[in-house]
Amino acid sequence: MVYDYATKVKGTQGSPIRDAIVKAQGEGFISFAAGFPDPQAIPMEKLSRISQEVLEEYGIEVFQYGESIGRAELRQQARKFINMDYDVLKEGDDILVTSGSTQGLYIASKIFLNEGDVILSEDPAFSGAFASFRSNGATIRGIRMEEDGVDIAALEEAMASEPKPKFFYTIPNFNNPTGYTTSFEKRKAIYWLAKKYNVIILEDNPYGYLRSAGEDLPAIKTFDTTGHVLYAASLSKIISPGMRCALLCGAKEIIAKAVIQKSLIDSSTPIWNQLVMAKFLEQTDMRNHIRYISDIYERKCELMHETMAATFHEDVKYGKPEGGMFIYFELPDYINLQDFVNEAAKMHIAVVPGSAFSVEQPQRCNGVRINFSIPTVDQIIDGITKIGALTHRLCGDQIN
Ligand SMILES: Cc1ncc(COP(=O)(O)O)c(C=O)c1O
Repeated sequence: MVYDYATKVKGTQGSPIRDAIVKAQGEGFISFAAGFPDPQAIPMEKLSRISQEVLEEYGIEVFQYGESIGRAELRQQARKFINMDYDVLKEGDDILVTSGSTQGLYIASKIFLNEGDVILSEDPAFSGAFASFRSNGATIRGIRMEEDGVDIAALEEAMASEPKPKFFYTIPNFNNPTGYTTSFEKRKAIYWLAKKYNVIILEDNPYGYLRSAGEDLPAIKTFDTTGHVLYAASLSKIISPGMRCALLCGAKEIIAKAVIQKSLIDSSTPIWNQLVMAKFLEQTDMRNHIRYISDIYERKCELMHETMAATFHEDVKYGKPEGGMFIYFELPDYINLQDFVNEAAKMHIAVVPGSAFSVEQPQRCNGVRINFSIPTVDQIIDGITKIGALTHRLCGDQIN
């Protein structure tokens, strides 16, 4: 049978991150590819105790259908948490509980995009979001990412051009893959441009709480008094990705549309998960919890960075992120990116080529994303030392 698939899924590709992991399988396999939390950062005991409490308190309700917008308990606790340091959400904003921000980004695409629409994105940025935008018909125009955020002049030029872009996708804290953080000034400029050109900002913030150095910065949504910003917050990286709980936040009118789309996709995020997350937020000093997990990641990031400094060829360029889960390095342009990734896979080490996250010129990208949150300390030392040796080998400078 030759299956006649819908046009919108014909071009959809599998995840480059999963591909990298599959290629590198084997004995002693080390994955620097996925963005999973460290098992120690998942509050397993507390979550299981609260799961039991939820069952006892709510009984059969836990196993029933729920409202598509999400449980009031979680929406209330999430609002308190999101507004813990800044007034991110305003009176006129509402919250939809989504099954991960993956779903929030998909729903945002679904409600705003028509076939052939243009959206703008930081370039590079999260490939999973690109897949959602493209599967909903969009063409993505990439705006070059700099160390302190997107190139503002290029963003203005793109916002002013025809066809008018539907939204601008940004990960202001510890961008995936580069780890770059958008400065305060650029956050204000982005909001100002959004208002000037009437373009929605889709602000994706899964990593913002994982800051180990530098100054905490307000979300772009904090400046929003006009309903231009749609804000995706996720509990995956700070509590548990398996619980699939995230929040899509924005003007009530947008969230009302989003709720209808959510009801078509999965009716609601599982009630049990939502109630456990609500109680976790209620019972936990989130500042302490975040400090605890950020410390774990700070140590691992430090170790990875030190090991890179000790073992990588000097022509490889990289910085040290102030948080998040990834370090991004640039190979010299005389090394072929795919050869590098393949050679690492032969050593059973999975890394993700930056081209997977590039919009405008993936063929010219020579960056590599490596994750420090999930590998163990021994894996970081062993795996980074091996890829360090690989950088020397490929740079034509045999060591040993
Ligand atoms: C930038 C970014 N946005 C969104 C997500 C999706 O996270 P989740 O669906 O677990 O909330 C990820 C996951 O890695 C991500 O890196």
